[in-house]
Amino acid sequence: MSKDSWTKIDEILSGKKTGKTINIRGWIYRTRSSGNLVFAIIRDVTGTLQVTVFKDNVPEKEFEDAKKALVESSVEIVGTVVEDKRAPGGYEIQVSNFNVINFAEKFPIVKDQSPEFLLDQRHLWIRSQKLKAILKIRSTVVGAIHQFFRENGYYEFDAPVLQPNQCEGGSTLFEVKYYKNKTYLSQSWQLYAEAAIFSLEKIYNMGPTFRAEKSKTSRHLSEFWMAEMEAAWMDLHDVTEVAKDEVRFILKEVLKNNKPELEILKQDIKKLEKISKAKFPTITYTEAINILNEKAKMNFEWGKDLRTLEENKLMDYFETPVVVTNYPIEIMAFYKPRDPKDPKTALCFDMIAPEGYGEIVGGSQRSLDIKDMTQRLKAEGEDIKNYEWYFDLRRFGSVPHSGYGLGVERVVAWICGIDNIKDAIPFPRTIIRFRP
Ligand code: 4AD
Ligand code: MG
Repeated sequence: MSKDSWTKIDEILSGKKTGKTINIRGWIYRTRSSGNLVFAIIRDVTGTLQVTVFKDNVPEKEFEDAKKALVESSVEIVGTVVEDKRAPGGYEIQVSNFNVINFAEKFPIVKDQSPEFLLDQRHLWIRSQKLKAILKIRSTVVGAIHQFFRENGYYEFDAPVLQPNQCEGGSTLFEVKYYKNKTYLSQSWQLYAEAAIFSLEKIYNMGPTFRAEKSKTSRHLSEFWMAEMEAAWMDLHDVTEVAKDEVRFILKEVLKNNKPELEILKQDIKKLEKISKAKFPTITYTEAINILNEKAKMNFEWGKDLRTLEENKLMDYFETPVVVTNYPIEIMAFYKPRDPKDPKTALCFDMIAPEGYGEIVGGSQRSLDIKDMTQRLKAEGEDIKNYEWYFDLRRFGSVPHSGYGLGVERVVAWICGIDNIKDAIPFPRTIIRFRP
């Protein structure tokens, strides 16, 4: 049979095939039989559809096969599309051929199983309606990120995954045996991006990123995808505006392509539409602390990093993502420069998502001060020799530059409204899980 003679389920549900004889293929999603009749729901990538198999309408062996085929068996079906108000979706197929391609064994996943069991069965659970909806949205998000940067004049630039240096602090590095040496898995693309802007000026990338996060949270993965950008001549304000545009663009693309999936996930589409057209406020860390202490009556000390608790409290006062700039310099990575106008703080920012999804973007202007960076790296116990190449970037035609990284899974989790970041990536890796 030629490729395009297979009809997809969404075409049938759109009413375009009513009265026609069609072929579909997919998997049995539910099935029950009584006497001379089998009722099954078939799923393909586009949706689910009821099919009815009358004993008298199909060859005898095919009826027996239809009766005994369990959930998740793969099938090819020929039949006639009829409108039927009682069927889910309003259409069904009256079957004339029911060919089982593979009889599934008893499927291990049934209703109401624990999250841990579903994670053990992840290779099978990714067929679920929920994960399928999330994976489709994730695909849109990833496509939108490429489109956003390419349409705005950025080159895609790739950095090594095996890196000799830290970027975001030594404590979360994954060490890798490298022949007779040791090296690390990438914590960020940034340091190499800073080399490449002297060639390509505006660049971006999206790739796997690794952090040995020691605690179990609903926001942290050990392997996640980060979408980063870096640009020559841009300052902190410039990149915060790029980040806002990027997030709005991602939202618009999801709203354009994934309404059915957002409905499956019971996400509030109107709310997302509003956010996709909104201006996102920018406040300073100091202003954020004032909101926490004055409005939320907390007793938060200036100088500490915002934890989940504080980020969530802060977001009680905002309906859109918020950019928070100028965190205390002491708690920031070595490459974030002091703000000359407010030297206790760094020229850096986080974008925080509403409703408890926390930091979705982190970025900064980049320090050009070799002496200051040397001191800060030494204080962290780093071997300065490993950073000489990075300091060279300040020695040969240095320019002001800035960049940021967006956590793909954090954004997907927020857009989908799911309660754990683990469902925003197909096969999650965390401190306690690296299988299947
Ligand atoms: O704020 P982070 O650590 O920033 C950097 O790595 C910079 N070097 C990026 C840059 O300027 N080019 O990480 C950026 C984003 C965070 O805002 C968060 O969304 C996500 O990456 N992220 C994680 N997502 C899932 N699991 C983790 N363990 C994450 N750590 C960071
Ligand atoms: Mg951060």
